[in-house]
Amino acid sequence: MNIALLGFGVVGSGVYEWCRGREDLHVRRVLIRSDKPEIASIATRDFEEILHDDAIDVVAEVMGGLHPAYEYVSAALKAGKHVVTANKALIAAYYQELTALAKQCGKALLCTAAVGGGIPWLVNLARCKKLDSICRVGGIMNGTSNFIMDAMHKSPVSFPAILKQAQELGYAEADPSADIDGDDIRRKLVISANIAFDALLREEDIPMFGIRTVTDGDIKTFQSHGFACKLLAEAAQAEGGVCAYIEPTLVAADALEAAVPANFNLITYEGENIGRQSFYGQGAGQMPTAANVVQDCLSILEGRTGFYAQKAVPTALDGTGEAHPYYVRTAAPDEWLKQHTADTWDNGVVTGAINTYEMLAWAKTQQKTDPTCFIAGIR
Ligand SMILES: NC(=O)c1ccc[n+]([C@@H]2O[C@H](COP(=O)([O-])OP(=O)(O)OC[C@H]3O[C@@H](n4cnc5c(N)ncnc54)[C@H](OP(=O)(O)O)[C@@H]3O)[C@@H](O)[C@H]2O)c1
Repeated sequence: MNIALLGFGVVGSGVYEWCRGREDLHVRRVLIRSDKPEIASIATRDFEEILHDDAIDVVAEVMGGLHPAYEYVSAALKAGKHVVTANKALIAAYYQELTALAKQCGKALLCTAAVGGGIPWLVNLARCKKLDSICRVGGIMNGTSNFIMDAMHKSPVSFPAILKQAQELGYAEADPSADIDGDDIRRKLVISANIAFDALLREEDIPMFGIRTVTDGDIKTFQSHGFACKLLAEAAQAEGGVCAYIEPTLVAADALEAAVPANFNLITYEGENIGRQSFYGQGAGQMPTAANVVQDCLSILEGRTGFYAQKAVPTALDGTGEAHPYYVRTAAPDEWLKQHTADTWDNGVVTGAINTYEMLAWAKTQQKTDPTCFIAGIR
């Protein structure tokens, strides 16, 4: 099988390494935009050369971003090439267009590395779904935020200090917003939920609250009440569609999620009959992520075509059925919060069960009055 890589960064060079010396997978061309001397003989800056090379079977898009990735991937499918991508932003934003195009062209579109990095999450989700009905998907889907939360539970360290350390270690980007505010998780949740429920959710509609404002004082309080705090994603079948959201969540200190260390992920689906199955591992990193790209190529070599789901039906978000108590810390409690307050925990309060979508909407507005406000759902 001849592969063309679009991009030769962290993941692209990892894919190249995995393929080196193999008889069955051959990296024939690499699209670059800055010199990469180690692959000079197969590098090109002209995508058309890849597009019109009939010997190329698979285009592996590992350059990131929406454009020109979308145009290149679409053109590759139309030119009769299978596509593998690690790009969650691309798949989340163009889910409908790209899955329909792959179907129309009769080619494979696989993106296992896009959700869970090195964890074979999507392939197992799709496998489970062939037999059972999936009730919910979610879990710890971002390594950077888990690294921060884990470190804050292990020793009393402030959020800004541990974020700086994560950046120095290369776990967090210079602009960490996508990881700590929930956008990265939301993309992975949308892709997972769409596959699990044959749905077509819009990324921007899913409410979320991140960990930017958590303090070492909050963590100490949670621990003294027997909880650990994790940034969790959740998407479940609901009466009128799918209930999906992302929020810091207090789980029992002995829960599986509480034990997930450093930058690891723990992603779970629950099948109606099969029950809960969780997948734990490296949610990012060069060789684990590249391994999933290469595994997708191997699946195509074995005859795989299409996407993980056959249908994508526009689906409403329905949060009406989900309610639980919350921990809320704000310097400016309003009447609504006072009415729902059931208990006081140090600098924060604990509410009775509140509708999740109502709480996430309140928290978003409250951040305008009090930017230091923090909330966490209690499961
Ligand atoms: N890193 C991970 O652990 C990880 C995990 C899961 C998923 N992913 C996804 O994998 C994709 C790649 O991530 P990465 O970490 O490998 O990023 P990266 O290290 O920044 O690599 C991207 C590469 O693509 C090249 N590139 C970008 N735009 C291009 C264009 N228009 N034409 C040609 N080359 C172009 C860049 O060129 P320059 O070298 O000139 O900048 C760079 O070499 C992203 O979608 C990311 O979300 C990454």
